[in-house]
Amino acid sequence: MQFSVTPESITEIPADCLVVPVWKDGGLGEEASALDAADSGALGRIAASGDYLWDIGDAHLLHGPEGCAAGRILLAGAGAPEDFGAMEAAKYLAGNARFVLARNMPQVHFALADLEANRPDAQWLAARLAQEAEVAAYRYTTTKASTKREAVLESVTTPALADELEQALRKGQAIGRGMNRARELGNLPGNICTPEYLASHARELADGSGKLSVDVLDEAQMRELGMGSLLSVAAGSVEEARLIVLHYRGAREARGKGAGDDGKPVVLVGKGITFDTGGISLKPGLAMDEMKFDMCGAASVLGTVAAVAELQLPINLIGMVAAAENMPGGKATKPGDIVTSMSGKTIEILNTDAEGRLVLCDALTYAERFEPACVIDIATLTGAAVAAFGNHANVMLGNDQALMDRLLQCGLDSLDRAWQLPLWDEYQKQLDSNFADMANIGGKLAGTITAACFLSRYTENFSWAHLDIAGSAWHSEGAKKGATGRPVPLLMEFLLNLPEKD
Ligand code: BES
Ligand code: MN
Ligand code: ZN
Repeated sequence: MQFSVTPESITEIPADCLVVPVWKDGGLGEEASALDAADSGALGRIAASGDYLWDIGDAHLLHGPEGCAAGRILLAGAGAPEDFGAMEAAKYLAGNARFVLARNMPQVHFALADLEANRPDAQWLAARLAQEAEVAAYRYTTTKASTKREAVLESVTTPALADELEQALRKGQAIGRGMNRARELGNLPGNICTPEYLASHARELADGSGKLSVDVLDEAQMRELGMGSLLSVAAGSVEEARLIVLHYRGAREARGKGAGDDGKPVVLVGKGITFDTGGISLKPGLAMDEMKFDMCGAASVLGTVAAVAELQLPINLIGMVAAAENMPGGKATKPGDIVTSMSGKTIEILNTDAEGRLVLCDALTYAERFEPACVIDIATLTGAAVAAFGNHANVMLGNDQALMDRLLQCGLDSLDRAWQLPLWDEYQKQLDSNFADMANIGGKLAGTITAACFLSRYTENFSWAHLDIAGSAWHSEGAKKGATGRPVPLLMEFLLNLPEKD
């Protein structure tokens, strides 16, 4: 998809469709008024007809308008101007992108000036337009032999409202594409998207960018490093585990933006369980297919690294993926088995379905060698996070409040919100074991917190935040069933706004 800024006046733009807002009272902005004047008041008459409330989602398509170069005008409800904030703007842009995509209008112009009169600024609107248009255009087709003919969106233009709008469009597009990459990986079935598949995906990513390189550790190398915990998860599967490490070096000098005083990288660590049967602690059958999404943390890391590379951000970033398939089998880990993690700490595996923390802990120990500025792990870790927050929140815990405060703000700014839970010491004793340094589960209560308590024992040497995305990473039902691409927007907001060091 092509995004660009056009200096032409709205009546001169030869698009298939011009999307212009109509406010709740039927009011038209400047651009819509120019079109209205050119078409002898047709827009005003429709706006005032009473046929629509002009809430966001209301839409009237006008064909062959007089006095303008475009083929159609979409009068798009924008609701009340005083209610029109970032959330509303995103809904407006996404809904209208879907509207034009559902019809055959490949060249579309979004009149943003009339929206910009209100709160979200021009840069934000342009970036969001590109993000929402990319996300709206994504279709999962990879494993479908027959697909309906779909309309395409080839190019989207916006008026030249401010400086650096081109850059904002590129930024939004990279975020949207990063989300779609994460969605595609999440949607692929477990028989295609294996740990080695994720590794090859990372290799291909690295091939396409001079600033990216990749290391893939196989099981023999992990055994050498003593990653007994990660390996215990893959023991029952014929698919070999992989630890994928993508290095993005974009900081101008050793002293890079946000990369700490000496170019220290931000490290992202994604849970990459390509299918989670539960292992010997087998999950019930109902909706077990959804456990192909158990690598959405990994997918968000790959989507984010790809977006950072596309934008050539001046930062140092490491994207790690701990990839394994959790299966029962003759060699599978059993409840009661005790494994030794890379850190030397021993773990009594009381439930083989609490496998995410087992792969993450060794990846987190490995991350120490990069002397990270901070580490963020992203994982579809607990059903308890879904029970408490449904699909809306990324659930956050960690050991550095300043880091978490930044992430909370980034969640608000990107509309990919996070909510913090307490990581109080009182919860730690739920992990006590009579036979090992810790158990891998903490009993019935506070499952999301005790999972983070487990991880906290592997993050003592750096600033760390954990995002449990079990609820936010996918939609479970109906036409929307599939991966969401979250929290790529949150992670990108964070990386785009790393503080400048001097
Ligand atoms: N991948 C699941 C978490 C999950 C469950 C995500 C349901 C989305 C929906 C994770 O590996 C898991 O099975 N967690 C267990 C932990 C328990 C055994 C302590 C859970 O949440 O039930
Ligand atoms: Mn599990
Ligand atoms: Zn899992």
